[in-house]
Amino acid sequence: IDLTQPLDRDTAAALNRAFVEHAVLVVRGQSLQPRDFLAVAKQFGTPVRQHLEQFNIPDCPDVSTISNQEKTKTGKINVRGVSWHTDHSFTPEPPKATMLYSVALPDTGGNTHWAHMGAAYEALSPDLRTRVDGLSAVHAYTDSRVPPDLDERKREAAEDVTDGVAHPLARTHPDSGGKAIYLNPLRVRRFLGMAPEDCSGLIGDLVAHATQPEFTYTHRWQLGDMVIWDNRCCMHKADTDYDFNQIRLMYRIILAGDKPF
Ligand code: SIN
Repeated sequence: IDLTQPLDRDTAAALNRAFVEHAVLVVRGQSLQPRDFLAVAKQFGTPVRQHLEQFNIPDCPDVSTISNQEKTKTGKINVRGVSWHTDHSFTPEPPKATMLYSVALPDTGGNTHWAHMGAAYEALSPDLRTRVDGLSAVHAYTDSRVPPDLDERKREAAEDVTDGVAHPLARTHPDSGGKAIYLNPLRVRRFLGMAPEDCSGLIGDLVAHATQPEFTYTHRWQLGDMVIWDNRCCMHKADTDYDFNQIRLMYRIILAGDKPF
């Protein structure tokens, strides 16, 4: 596929079916400018503006960048997305998908990992599944559970602080009808109706379960890779195991989603 060319209707439909079936799609060997990438994104959904506006590309602001050259106001390197999460879960209608296009890569390392939360849900023990089915999680941008090294970013991005939004811990995929654990360890503050001191244990247990090798995919990036993933049934994280003198730069788009149910 050459993604700079408009996709015919059958191909676009096949890609969308593959997206729902497989949750992560990789298209290699592309040569995309931000506007090309945006046009591709529109074949899968509706691009929405990303909330950290400083990373949006000025003349194509629905496309943002994610890079290992980002720095905090105090000059500290600040790489986003390095621990398990699902994007923008603190919003009432989190994005259905995120798309990355690789523009610059280190010689080795910098892989991205995904965990299929639908497969992980199916493999829960009956008791844990019943427990997960009955819970809602409160997701918020500021979160006492954020790891210490992210505190600075949390302060800088305070413009989008909310008191939190509750989403079911087991969400139903609107297209496949399958259920998935909907968890964001970076943003979940607590579970409704559960004592706060019990929450960390359950989050830890679910992350340990869902990130076992049988539920995960690791992508070794090549220049020109375009990847789209389904945030409704995946968590993801990027490795920082490379030489930071080398640039790792991605274009990034998120697609509008629905209220989880
Ligand atoms: C992200 O968390 O959206 C970025 C993942 C990556 O940089 O590979």
